[in-house]
Amino acid sequence: MRDADCVAFLRWALPRLGFRWQGFRRVRRQVCRRIESRCAELGLPDVGAYRQRLMEDAAEWERLAPLCRVTISRFFRDRELFRGLERDVLPELAARFAAGRGAEISVWSAGCGAGEEPYSLAIMGRLSPSLLGVRLRIVGTDLDATQLDRAHRAVYPESSLRDLPVAWRQAAFAPAGEGEWQLESSYRESVETTLQDLRLRAPAGPFHLVLCRNLAFTYFAEPLQREVVERIRGRLLRGGALVIGGHERLPALLPDLAPWRRSVWRAVA
Ligand SMILES: C[S@@+](CC[C@H](N)C(=O)[O-])C[C@H]1O[C@@H](n2cnc3c(N)ncnc32)[C@H](O)[C@@H]1O
Repeated sequence: MRDADCVAFLRWALPRLGFRWQGFRRVRRQVCRRIESRCAELGLPDVGAYRQRLMEDAAEWERLAPLCRVTISRFFRDRELFRGLERDVLPELAARFAAGRGAEISVWSAGCGAGEEPYSLAIMGRLSPSLLGVRLRIVGTDLDATQLDRAHRAVYPESSLRDLPVAWRQAAFAPAGEGEWQLESSYRESVETTLQDLRLRAPAGPFHLVLCRNLAFTYFAEPLQREVVERIRGRLLRGGALVIGGHERLPALLPDLAPWRRSVWRAVA
């Protein structure tokens, strides 16, 4: 399939699924490959014929939506951000909310992938000297059952671990054959995962910290982004923090979310 044909198709189809084309620009190749395979499966000659098929068969949109799901992730994706969480954000949240109750910090990883993000926090919570006495209770949600199955197995290729500090990697992972590593079960215990669509619902909460990175604020169309940020805001405790992706921005400046540091917002009301 020619890139230009796929781009024209995506520009037409993505908004109809509630997505924004701009978010897919850099990762379009994998989505185009999947669409090409779907065309072949249906015996269609090109993406133009697939567009026609979508116009005639509403059920095909249900098949297209998962083909547009981007699942790239890795441990400690955006090292500088994780360093900031470790040294500033989490210690401050613990100090602020600990009074009389022990420092248990509740965290929601929205679009948790195969566990890379919530497990990064679990590892940090256990091994960082800055977080001694702090207990993280982490909920991860994702729309994709395959991703959550992978999170339960917790087996990862070498490339997923490349940003993880070496000492932490040695402490938390055991070899699992052929260039793969499994997270030790004790690190998995603080993470609970749930199959859930962020466009429709959120876990009960409330949360001290919510991470919503490389999902809604990259791929969703703006009206949907606004719904999502309101939903997340509804689950954040006053004084809690929302973390977004390094290349993302919030859809609108909400009066009760104030900038804290790069990619981190604080709920101020
Ligand atoms: C690109 S990955 C990002 C993972 C992680 N947050 C990170 O930054 O590395 C996006 C994840 O969001 C999930 N996802 C996509 N649409 C979703 C939705 N509507 N609700 C919940 N999760 C969704 C995908 O299955 C995928 O695991």
